[in-house]
Amino acid sequence: MKYAFPDNFWWGSASSALQTEGAREGETTWDYWFAREPNRFHNGVGPQQTSTFYQHWKTDIQLLKQLNHNSFRTSISWARLIPDGIGEVNPDAVDFYHQVIDELNEHGITPFITLFHFDMPMAMQEIGGWENRDVVDAYARYAQICFELFGDRVLHWFTFNEPIVPVEGGYLYDFHYPNVVDFRRAATVAYHTVLAHAKAVQAYRAGHYAGEIGIVLNLTPSYPRSQNPADVKAAHVADLMFNRSFLDPVLRGEYPADLVALLKSYDQLPACKPEDGFLIAEGKIDLLGINYYQPRRVKCRDSAVNPQAPFMPEWFFDSYEMPGRKMNPYRGWEIYAPGIYDILINLRDNYGNPRCFISENGMGVENEQRFIENGQINDQYRIEFISEHLTWLHKGISKGCNCLGYHMWTFIDNWSWCNAYKNRYGFIQLDLETQQRTIKKSGEWFATTALNNSFEKE
Ligand code: BG6
Repeated sequence: MKYAFPDNFWWGSASSALQTEGAREGETTWDYWFAREPNRFHNGVGPQQTSTFYQHWKTDIQLLKQLNHNSFRTSISWARLIPDGIGEVNPDAVDFYHQVIDELNEHGITPFITLFHFDMPMAMQEIGGWENRDVVDAYARYAQICFELFGDRVLHWFTFNEPIVPVEGGYLYDFHYPNVVDFRRAATVAYHTVLAHAKAVQAYRAGHYAGEIGIVLNLTPSYPRSQNPADVKAAHVADLMFNRSFLDPVLRGEYPADLVALLKSYDQLPACKPEDGFLIAEGKIDLLGINYYQPRRVKCRDSAVNPQAPFMPEWFFDSYEMPGRKMNPYRGWEIYAPGIYDILINLRDNYGNPRCFISENGMGVENEQRFIENGQINDQYRIEFISEHLTWLHKGISKGCNCLGYHMWTFIDNWSWCNAYKNRYGFIQLDLETQQRTIKKSGEWFATTALNNSFEKE
């Protein structure tokens, strides 16, 4: 069967500043943490060892063109642009981002720009990071500077990439700096991130720029083990905590009342100011980026909560390993393509069918060299992964969902936080030593699909 996509469908990929640029300027929490605890990073590889986009942006953009991208998302590094987070703007950074944006536009590749992709300037973290409202204001100033500098040529802005991940990693589950385990502080970080988002949206609207502004959320549909009310309730709480804590403020302009009531009953609400509600209401977006990698399957807890243990989302559910589920064993994530469809239908039915696109989807695989045939990685598994997800996306569009594009994670194999180069995600293989780039089979498949705006699948 032929799967054809609407005209002007966005075909592309996503990446981020810290994961690709190298030539670090302006210290981030990642540089700081890596200098102190390199053992927390796979094979001791830190954020200095990248695909060197800072040097090779020109040739990389030619490769994007070769892959028939009509759009590409990357981020601006706050710490590169404003090294202390709040003061002087670094002119070299301005030149760099100007050149990248212009080059993309000249090649007919629409730049999608994220303002914050996990990379907090260390100077801002030293004053409390997202726990401090001064950092919210510093971020709003940074956003405004970006709009003023680049807003005439960037028409698609994203305030944050997966804002819940720094909350989970840094304040609940110990996989980002500052390695705190404290729900109330996590909730404060999440809340202030929403305020920062809303302030950036406000600044964008006030500037009357020609483009649109949104946010990128990692949505993990929460599936209950069964329809038993206890399982359904568990899935509902997981959904509130991990999806709706950001989805509702940015699409509805307010938090779900039952999430607020739940946190209140456990004394976990962050400190709020009366004027915050108006600000959050003004943070409604034009465009939602959806990162979809895996579903979340839950069941009601089997055991009682240890009242001495720190308050955690898992007080309300256990994760459920569904028999027969398909796994990506390298990343430990379930592969479930219908999840894309369920997300789109949920947005259509419960959130007014917003303009949205798949901003990341992907499959990280270890030791891909074993699949080399005639000098090229034959990653048929990735082609199957993409085409399967695209069929469900296609079905969503056929049911009226307002999904405008599909971006893959990622363009060239890149540095993946604590996993460094363990799992490779790229359309293009990176030889870290020589910096040689070689297009994988999936890159060729994607280029053809993007060119035809369609693909064939049985
Ligand atoms: C997303 C992020 O969570 O998934 C990326 O936006 C990240 O920054 C990607 O690299 C893949 O996840 P991981 O943890 O395997 O790198």
